[in-house]
Amino acid sequence: MPIDLRSDTITQPTLGMREAIAKAVVGDDVLGDDPTVQQLERYVAGLLGKEAAVFMPSGTMTNQVALRTHTEPGDEVILESQAHIYYYEGGGPAALSGVTCRLINGDRGVFRATDLAQVLRPSNVHFPHTKLVCLENTHNRGGGKIYPLVEIDAIAQLCQQHQLKLHLDGARLWNACIATDITAADYVKAFDSVSVCFSKGLGAPIGSALAGSNEFIQRARRFRKMFGGGMRQAGMIAAGALYALKHHRPRLQADHSNAQNLAKGLQSIPGIVIEPKTVETNIVVFQTASLSAQTLVERLKQKGVYVLAVGPKSIRAVTNLMVSAEQIQQVPHLVELALIET
Ligand SMILES: Cc1ncc(COP(=O)(O)O)c(C=O)c1O
Repeated sequence: MPIDLRSDTITQPTLGMREAIAKAVVGDDVLGDDPTVQQLERYVAGLLGKEAAVFMPSGTMTNQVALRTHTEPGDEVILESQAHIYYYEGGGPAALSGVTCRLINGDRGVFRATDLAQVLRPSNVHFPHTKLVCLENTHNRGGGKIYPLVEIDAIAQLCQQHQLKLHLDGARLWNACIATDITAADYVKAFDSVSVCFSKGLGAPIGSALAGSNEFIQRARRFRKMFGGGMRQAGMIAAGALYALKHHRPRLQADHSNAQNLAKGLQSIPGIVIEPKTVETNIVVFQTASLSAQTLVERLKQKGVYVLAVGPKSIRAVTNLMVSAEQIQQVPHLVELALIET
């Protein structure tokens, strides 16, 4: 069995989840007939303390529908420079919403209210209308960094003063909640919209949801349909998402301690640079001192360890429910062997 640390999206549904999927009661969700999808949407809205939620096939779609729902073409959206919405969603903001993106360089994905204040401009015919600020918690390219709640509160206050909406890409919000002991509802109170994923650490095969006010979600449903995300007997996948939410959130703690152990194991290897303190959740980013990241990735693959190069000297390993503590223990030694290969 390979030790697959490429992403937490590689997870396979568990037996219990497969049973829940098999038994799901379904209907045509575009016609409003799928009770399992409706149950999931109510459950997610409740967990996040929002009025409503809408189920979608992917995190990319929930984010892009959120942008389209909050904005009109020509508006400006403010994001951190490595934000998934900007970096990894195929130019969606420009192509699907016609918005311009204004970027702020954060500290591993986290910017502060003072950084935001510096890029806000007065209303003037020369400038686009700034409508929306997006944050990401935890931050993928920031190595799973947690957004501190005090920073979020300060940013939300500034947004309110400037009539800006605030969206959260919470694909890994569940990880932030487990790591901080802050409930999801408390974490997202200040946001107008929140996107969450079921197919990452939680281990469902497919699915994300967008949550917000009743009015916002009603408008989002129109754009979901327009973007091709209206699904028919979607209860088949909603059942997996519900099962994941109810059974797999506490176990994220195991992924976090596996990530911490991996970071500590890698720290002592000559040729590897990592600071375990920077590993806050399930994402471990480490650097090679001299070898190219891609070469090490290929050598590790030969040894049954799958990771991804995320920069010329940067490698990402994401702990997930398919990888045990025992397997994680083996990884530093395999990295050491891969480094000395010629
Ligand atoms: C932070 C973040 N947001 C959004 C997404 C998009 O999710 P999906 O792959 O379901 O489109 C990802 C995927 O890895 C992600 O890491």
